Amino acid sequence: MSWSSSGGPGHTRGDGTVTAHAPAKVNVSLAVGPLRPDGFHALQTVYLAVSLLDTVTVRRGDGLSVTVTGEGTGGPDPVPTDRRNLVWRAAELLAEQAGVAADAAIAVDKTIPAAAGLAGGSADAAAALVALDALWGTHATRGDLTALAAQLGSDVPFSLAGGVALGSGRGEQLTPVLARRQWHWVLGIAEGGLATPAVYAELDRLRAAGRAPEGAGAPSPEPVVAALRSGPPPALAAALGNDLQAAAVSLRPALRRALRAATDAGALAALVSGSGPTVAALAEDEDAAVRLAAVLAGEGVFRTVRVVHGPVPGARLVG
Ligand code: C5P
Repeated sequence: MSWSSSGGPGHTRGDGTVTAHAPAKVNVSLAVGPLRPDGFHALQTVYLAVSLLDTVTVRRGDGLSVTVTGEGTGGPDPVPTDRRNLVWRAAELLAEQAGVAADAAIAVDKTIPAAAGLAGGSADAAAALVALDALWGTHATRGDLTALAAQLGSDVPFSLAGGVALGSGRGEQLTPVLARRQWHWVLGIAEGGLATPAVYAELDRLRAAGRAPEGAGAPSPEPVVAALRSGPPPALAAALGNDLQAAAVSLRPALRRALRAATDAGALAALVSGSGPTVAALAEDEDAAVRLAAVLAGEGVFRTVRVVHGPVPGARLVG
């Protein structure tokens, strides 16, 4: 780490709080390579940050505490508020690296559903790093925070960076990608989540059984990168691909119908976002996305639908 800090004073609002936002992501291309000895798969992915934001508000506390409101707080499998929550581990890691006491009350307000393939937990961790750095006055550089983010999870560095990026390694090694325009999507959010490790394990199982192509079966990222740079929406639609889709559909067969419903309703293309089960449906423009969302909402295939656009910035302070 390149910073050392006395731990204060930080930058808080008049009420002693600091707030940060971080976005959801869609993998517009996700090629999954072989399983590595460390239990992760080598990836080639193109991340796009979209306008579905979680909000993390922190204040000084005595020890750590986490509260969660919004998406994912009800139901049989609520988002945890203890060390299993990635924001808890983000706080511990930042405090340890900066040599400060991990004293904070962390309030997470979610609009990104959990276990949905949208990197909601990663967004919360990235927003917590940014907010706690300001609260504690730890003066980490973006590079420092990115290094901590990579220790927390494969998608956390992208949740910090936002925009569009090529991800390699296990997803944590990022190269920014130029996008000249906004892309408009409808996210079809399912009832119930899918656990990321289970989806990767299902892909390994399908490949071992010869029922899914080995190695980077998804289209290479180059056509996606080229389409993002300058192409019309149908060019991006033609280039979308996700190796995890077959595994997500195998675990959740209803996804097949959901994907078809999106294209039948006028999407240029639809794919599973990350490990799913969210369906990301690409629209020609914002008006088309709003119309598409209305049709899909009326059909009741999804628990809820959201109209989003991207790229949007990564985790950042607000207010
Ligand atoms: O990095 P993260 O903690 O989000 O990963 C969660 C799980 O997803 C890993 O434990 C692993 O099972 C799977 N994974 C993988 N290959 C990756 C990223 C995640 O197998 N590149």
